[in-house]
Amino acid sequence: MTDPCSATRLPTELPSNPMDWAKAWLDEAFEKGVQRNPHTMTAVTVDETGQPTGRMVLCKEFVVDPGYLVFYTNYKSDKVRHLNHNNKIALVFHWDSFGRQVRLEGEAIRSPADESDAYFATRDWASQLGAWGSDQSSPLESRSALIAQVGKRAMKLGVGAARNWKSIAVADRPVIPRPPHWGGIRVWPRRIELWIEGTDRIHDRARWDRSLVRSDDDTYTAGEWTGTRLQP
Ligand SMILES: Cc1cc2nc3c(=O)[nH]c(=O)nc-3n(C[C@H](O)[C@H](O)[C@H](O)COP(=O)(O)O)c2cc1C
Repeated sequence: MTDPCSATRLPTELPSNPMDWAKAWLDEAFEKGVQRNPHTMTAVTVDETGQPTGRMVLCKEFVVDPGYLVFYTNYKSDKVRHLNHNNKIALVFHWDSFGRQVRLEGEAIRSPADESDAYFATRDWASQLGAWGSDQSSPLESRSALIAQVGKRAMKLGVGAARNWKSIAVADRPVIPRPPHWGGIRVWPRRIELWIEGTDRIHDRARWDRSLVRSDDDTYTAGEWTGTRLQP
């Protein structure tokens, strides 16, 4: 098999699983530290009027088989409100210094609660508190109102009035449970495109499609990928 990281072109016989390639590119971007957050991806959802809207999120898990990605967010945010209405989503990664782009389109569902609990427990303690502090995407009167809200909620969770949480001794930090409105979103792609920059704008592109059938609350049954080379 062609090594995805040394390949300057997609092989003549397209890879059978594009997720392998996308994951290898993501891993390499981390290993080589190409940018501060190499796992940043644009996530596009569609609101109730049909208006698409994009924002950056962090890919925290990339599972090649059976093939899904996970990001974490506030379930009361605009993006999740959109997904509750229409669970179709598009994701885009771009690693400029490698001249590589990965586009994914598919469906989003919430991660199982135990998976979100396990991930939340690994987060930095102050970030755990931060997840309680913000009603993401809700209007806000002022920055100081947010700081007051965050402090008030921290106190409810048993944290003293300290302004600087990081100054609280580890032994004095209460265990922070995962907020029920915060957790993972699993994205199951049914289409992936790999793009490699070429000279004179003669880039290399191919798109893969597969079937997806929802099998239960947390999972889809996915078919085999079929690849098609595309003009740049
Ligand atoms: C580099 C970067 C990474 C981000 N990662 C996340 C993330 O993983 N989850 C998240 O909810 N918001 C993340 N954000 C903030 C979102 O872009 C966005 O502002 C927020 O989720 C609210 O979006 P919404 O109102 O469309 O739901 C990130 C922003 C940047 C710039």
